[in-house]
Amino acid sequence: EKYDFGLVGLGVMGRNFILNVADNGFSAYGHDLDPEKVAALKEEGGHEAKVNASTSIKTFVQALKEPRKIMLLVPAGKIVDAVIESLLPHIDRGDIIIDGGNSFFTDTDRREAYLHDKAINFFGAGVSGGAKGARLGPSIMPGGSKSAYQHIKPIFEAVSAKYKGEPCVAYLGPKSSGNYVKMVHNGIEYGLMQLTSEVYDLLKKAGDFSNEEMHDTFSKWNAGRLQSFLVEITSKILEQKDELGLDKGHLVDQILDKAKQKGTGKWTSQNAMDLGIPVPSIDIAVSMREISGLKDERIEADKLYDRPEIEKLDKKELEKMAEEALYFSFIITYAQGLHQLADASKEYNYNLDITTIAKIWRAGCIIRAGLLADISEAFEADKDLPNLLLSSHFIDKVKSTVGSTRKLVAHAAANGIPLPGISNSLTYFDAYTSSRLPLNLIQAQRDFFGSHTYERLDKEGIFHTEWE
Ligand code: 6PG
Repeated sequence: EKYDFGLVGLGVMGRNFILNVADNGFSAYGHDLDPEKVAALKEEGGHEAKVNASTSIKTFVQALKEPRKIMLLVPAGKIVDAVIESLLPHIDRGDIIIDGGNSFFTDTDRREAYLHDKAINFFGAGVSGGAKGARLGPSIMPGGSKSAYQHIKPIFEAVSAKYKGEPCVAYLGPKSSGNYVKMVHNGIEYGLMQLTSEVYDLLKKAGDFSNEEMHDTFSKWNAGRLQSFLVEITSKILEQKDELGLDKGHLVDQILDKAKQKGTGKWTSQNAMDLGIPVPSIDIAVSMREISGLKDERIEADKLYDRPEIEKLDKKELEKMAEEALYFSFIITYAQGLHQLADASKEYNYNLDITTIAKIWRAGCIIRAGLLADISEAFEADKDLPNLLLSSHFIDKVKSTVGSTRKLVAHAAANGIPLPGISNSLTYFDAYTSSRLPLNLIQAQRDFFGSHTYERLDKEGIFHTEWE
């Protein structure tokens, strides 16, 4: 009896994904070059007779039902190409390879074209939700051949997270669309993480909140309109005691403040620049990880400059304003990311349906949030919505929270507390909602020094002035 599904790469994600497939009634076969990983999987899943694994690529391929469905959960980059090459001598026309990693989207296009010539179907399918998601139900973002998707659809729908019974997976579009959507998902993820960390800083510095108090605050918020995976885990992080340290305080206080990154957030920003779509809340989140890395310089600079004495705010009031500012900034960050997706869809002919994307993000993924239900409704009402800020579903939510955002940004600026994500979100909002910006002056300067010409408000045409 051959197996329904194959998976290459038996790290934590791969092993968990395979066990999830087996839990859902499909048989699954794993492959890894590391015999220990193969043995571990056989031991863990073997009792069900639905899971098997081999270090031999040939045995692995021959064990699979045709058309073979082979998912790769290996690190992005050259390894993906190497695995594809190792599969090619053994697989047949019509077989399906699915790259489940965070591959850069142009790599996916290159691989898709290469495999298309060999009549092999290739999917780039972002998988979000971490190790737990892979085991219990991730959000999956597949892009590739629509007809081949029918073969993987039943398995993906079964293993994915469910939002009120609806699977958090859908065919998103051709070629690299799935990887692109996952990339922007991660850009939004960077933005939301940065915003959460700023609010944590603000509560501590301007309100003297203890970790316990912030744990309560974030759990309370998570029960309201800010309900989201990242707010939920923040609350849990804030109550975690430190087992290792001498003072047995909170673990979060002992963690080095240098954030690492693997590139997806940076790619989102870089590609937004290529498209000409502003995503400043994501850009600044990438920059902040970079600034965080300059720890030694920061320590040096901290000694050179004085910081104002922080004027404390009333705890209750601060908590209320911070909730509003975080909600406002979350909305702005999703708005920017979705704006980028809508534009990329045209540029790369992905034909994306933003409603579907918002829907499959409602559960399973890292950016899952109550807000995504509202967002999917806004796009359902107007599928060509250029920006969430233009949706009648969001006007009141934004209007009622921008006031507190302004107050907190002003207070933080006056008191030397950096709120780059929140203030960038506010600035984006103020600029996006201004019918007149001062960029007329920039056009005048360009024409002044470089005869770059300008257009006029009152007359059609291209103008140039001899300024001097
Ligand atoms: C997810 C995550 C996942 C990964 C991030 C981490 O959706 O499950 O996004 O893909 O944990 O890529 O990214 P950084 O290491 O760049 O923070």
